[in-house]
Amino acid sequence: MRRHPSDPTGRTLVTDEHRQSPAAAVFDALGAAYEKAFAGSEAHRRSLEWLLGRLAPGSRVLDVGSGTGRPTAEALAGAGHEVLGVDVSPVMVELASRQVPSASFRCADIRELPLEENSFDAICVYFSLLQLDRHEQTDVVRRLVRALTPDGRLVLATVPLDVEGVEAVFMGQHVRVTSFDTLDLVAVAEEAGLDVLEREETLFTPAHPDAGPEPHVFLHCRRRDTVDA
Ligand SMILES: C[S@@+](CC[C@H](N)C(=O)[O-])C[C@H]1O[C@@H](n2cnc3c(N)ncnc32)[C@H](O)[C@@H]1O
Repeated sequence: MRRHPSDPTGRTLVTDEHRQSPAAAVFDALGAAYEKAFAGSEAHRRSLEWLLGRLAPGSRVLDVGSGTGRPTAEALAGAGHEVLGVDVSPVMVELASRQVPSASFRCADIRELPLEENSFDAICVYFSLLQLDRHEQTDVVRRLVRALTPDGRLVLATVPLDVEGVEAVFMGQHVRVTSFDTLDLVAVAEEAGLDVLEREETLFTPAHPDAGPEPHVFLHCRRRDTVDA
């Protein structure tokens, strides 16, 4: 499975460096179990419908922390959009490449991925920043906004808790979690140059014996005309 980053196919790039990331270790261990536990999220489906309803045919979409490719990349590529999924977990990238062959996937850490300005019509960030510290999350959102085309859309979903570096057990895996509460997340989005057009807050219980109800927030955003460099 191990390939070199210069793999000419441009897909499924796996290095030992990525294996050392704590998020990669957690999601390598979870793999398809994550998809199964979260498959019942109606709010995630509604969020994808919101996005699908606003994209021109053949839009370029970046899915940050693409997981198994389902439901996000599958829904977007299935609607004819050009989807690039990026995930730090080699196991997730392998699964997604197999499950959604009509999208492209790369194994990379979003903190290190070079992003060209104005290169995506839409960007999805579904629950993929929770292992980054607050400064990193803020910085990633700013960089993503600059990678959007003017008027591009960005969906930012997370578990809206005011926590920093908290140790938790998630589906049997030890994780360190950092997040923002909803108001602070909205401020992060707005300061990065986004208008928050709609937001949905809900409680979701993953279908997993170790899971309890968790709050979810989905921010549906559009890039403002002018974004600071
Ligand atoms: C909670 S899962 C969500 C997966 C998918 N977005 C979904 O909602 O179904 C988070 C995903 O983000 C990935 N991830 C975490 N940190 C990342 C990073 N720094 N760069 C890229 N991917 C990351 C994980 O490997 C995992 O697949």
